[in-house]
Amino acid sequence: MLLIAHRGASGYAPENTLAAFRLALDLGARAVELDIHQTRDGELVVIHDDDLKRVGRLKARIAELSAGELAAVDVGSWFSPRFASERAPTLSQAMDLVAGRAELHVELKHGSRRYPGIERRLVELIERRAAWKETLISSFDHPALFAVRALDKRARIGYLLGLTGMRKAYREMRALGAESLNLSLRQAGADLARKLHARGLKGLVYTVNTREQLSRVASRGYDGAFTNFPDLKP
Ligand code: G3P
Ligand code: MG
Repeated sequence: MLLIAHRGASGYAPENTLAAFRLALDLGARAVELDIHQTRDGELVVIHDDDLKRVGRLKARIAELSAGELAAVDVGSWFSPRFASERAPTLSQAMDLVAGRAELHVELKHGSRRYPGIERRLVELIERRAAWKETLISSFDHPALFAVRALDKRARIGYLLGLTGMRKAYREMRALGAESLNLSLRQAGADLARKLHARGLKGLVYTVNTREQLSRVASRGYDGAFTNFPDLKP
């Protein structure tokens, strides 16, 4: 089963930082997940929340900051003072680090309704790097996935289920040509992996942080697990 380092090795280093991605690779992760937002000046940046309250201890929204302003913010100290020099990387910087070493799962946190042009910028970045094979794009924002698909037929798409019902999800995954359903542990029932496989889909489960959870997900036949501890063993 594929272990995907969730926000990097975020159990050991501050999430979504180059330190967390480097550590994930050092631990042998074959896949890394990260989240992206867009700055005021159109830079794709790696961070989970749409503001800096939690990881930057600052009252500021990503959409209102320039890339330069964001690059000044310490997003590591909240985790440990050892990481005070960590900054929210640009997606380009994260891709530079991970390229050729692991598959990259890019989670678009919001599409164009919140961040105009974000899908096009993402597609252009992947195209410039000829990174279609090793990059997957996922989102809870399904219109954003449709926008990605309309831009390029090569995009590998993961459909994050969220609150969507299965009937609609199957219909949309088929229309999108998605390759996986990405779902929470709670949603990862005993029979679903088999049903997904029958439709040619993979099932990827988040967030799997204990041995017991990993064994359960593996025994149910799921294909991958997002984990904060990429050295986890079943
Ligand atoms: O892609 C799986 C997982 O990352 C989705 O939830 O909130 O951790 O981005 P979240
Ligand atoms: Mg995510």
